[in-house]
Amino acid sequence: MMRTHLCGRLSAAEAGQEVTLTGWVNRRREHGDHLTFIDLRDFSGVTQCVINNDIDVRSEYVLAVSGTVTMRTEDTVNPDLATGQIELKDCTVEVLSKAEPPPFPLDDRADGVDELIRLRYRYLDLRRQRMQKNMRVRSAVNAAIRNAMERQDFVEVETPMLMPSTPEGAREFLVPSRQRPGAFYALPQSPQLYKQLLMVGGLDRYYQIARCLRDEDLRADRQYEFMQLDMEMSFAEVDDVLSAAEVGVMDAAEAATGVRPDPVPRITWQEAMERFGTDKPDLRFEVELVELTDVFASTGFKAFSSASSIKGINVVGGSADYGRNKLDGLTDVAKSFGAKGMVWLRVKTEDGAPTLESPVAKFLSEEEKTALISRLSGNEGDLLLIIADEWMTTCGVLGELRNRVARPPVSQGPYKYLWVTDFPLFVGVDAVTGRPKPGHHAFCHPHPADVDKLETDPMAVRAWAYDLVLNGWELGSGSIRIHDPALQRRVFAVLGIDEDEANRRFGFFLEPFRYGAPPHGGFAYGIDRLTAILAGEENIREVIAFPKPQSGLDPMTDSPTEVDAKQLAELGLRTTI
Ligand code: AMO
Repeated sequence: MMRTHLCGRLSAAEAGQEVTLTGWVNRRREHGDHLTFIDLRDFSGVTQCVINNDIDVRSEYVLAVSGTVTMRTEDTVNPDLATGQIELKDCTVEVLSKAEPPPFPLDDRADGVDELIRLRYRYLDLRRQRMQKNMRVRSAVNAAIRNAMERQDFVEVETPMLMPSTPEGAREFLVPSRQRPGAFYALPQSPQLYKQLLMVGGLDRYYQIARCLRDEDLRADRQYEFMQLDMEMSFAEVDDVLSAAEVGVMDAAEAATGVRPDPVPRITWQEAMERFGTDKPDLRFEVELVELTDVFASTGFKAFSSASSIKGINVVGGSADYGRNKLDGLTDVAKSFGAKGMVWLRVKTEDGAPTLESPVAKFLSEEEKTALISRLSGNEGDLLLIIADEWMTTCGVLGELRNRVARPPVSQGPYKYLWVTDFPLFVGVDAVTGRPKPGHHAFCHPHPADVDKLETDPMAVRAWAYDLVLNGWELGSGSIRIHDPALQRRVFAVLGIDEDEANRRFGFFLEPFRYGAPPHGGFAYGIDRLTAILAGEENIREVIAFPKPQSGLDPMTDSPTEVDAKQLAELGLRTTI
């Protein structure tokens, strides 16, 4: 190596030694009398170097500096710096690379710089301590996961990036074929189909740190390209999959934060919806949905009497924080998530007794008001929010309101992991076919206790499907899969897919199941999401070396770019724009 030590790792223990450091000029200060101070930086930190002559170096020049590690005098010790007790003296400097002034400061101040500028010069942004830390957290997460899977006898297998287009799930990225002009490969949304074929192939336990691609709108927790820890196990039941997956997540969390999380609690989807109004509850705050349907069983208030499900939340002490404008804002949120409206009531005290102030208070009977206050444990100054609709809408809208009024940023501790199990097999109805839509995908195993209801009451059938949630973000999903072709046919029939269509759409996937498929199930969690939360970040872009900004257009490489007419012709393509 061109260096003997790292800039951030020198200490009093090395005092007196001749050392050579390499790195970038973090800061340079002239002290007159031919004396120059340089803070030299590498990934590990900074050391102050004292040079006894005038040298022509500027910020971000790359240097090799040799000198003697020397204890600083007491009055010059810098307690804020890991290497603050020492400095390098009598230095000689070799300039390895010159540098133009960077377009933004490469320290904490860059946090305020427009993200597009940071991404335009990502290779400079990566030099910053925050990004260095995030990249290393990511590496530790990957290493811990890989280790956990190997320890549990999972076999790493790579699956193709070029695969057939399958019409399920998100929009795909397509790759035109040169050999078969007019035909396309798709890039994998996940290795789902291949990993199931690996089970048919007898691999028993598979894992992959897999790149997945989906052409979705980008958000804080979504990129076109992202990484999953993908896994699948044969002869395994729900408990086995959750336990095996949990080991990897816990090991990763411990590697990143130094603290091993407690075993992850489990609740069913039904309970998650009833109590938190969402399939990804954030358990860091206590507000819960309270059942009120029975309170208004014989109400004269139209908005309530016409609804099959009424629930509320208590925003404790929220009365003062929510003036009319903010309440209107919450009502708009409720409407945008499908509610017809939102009822709000402020809890007041009148003549020593609690009472309710609200535009709708006059429509409620005294008994209803008393029961409402008691059910929601309302006290002076509290704000009660109520939604009346059909069950799914009532829960979903209140779940959204619950988050809006109380949810801390995702990266803010403590870490609250949660397994949500027993998702419904079908959710909603396809607008075109009028048939139930798969909750996760068409290959999820129905809960054995509900299989009888497949044809008679499909919407009541639960799936052996589960999600892992962290601080309100969905970290991962999985299920036990159908391995019995007869059961698969029944599920397809509910979805309105007949044998011909099934063969046309999923033929290559269905055929192997005729040759002896083991019972199997699996799971996949997003490494970008897990790393972001563990690194204390709000956006997965902060833990990805070269992410795409919200627009999807890369400001650094300017991609996507147009290509030569010759390239298009080879692929049998012509653009019409
Ligand atoms: P699913 O589609 O739920 O399941 O994806 C699993 C996890 O992958 C992450 N993820 C994403 N991360 C960043 N950007 C995206 N656009 C994105 N989309 C998904 C999330 C998500 O929870 N094959 C199934 C798993 C299985 O059944 O085994 C699957 O891919 O963290």
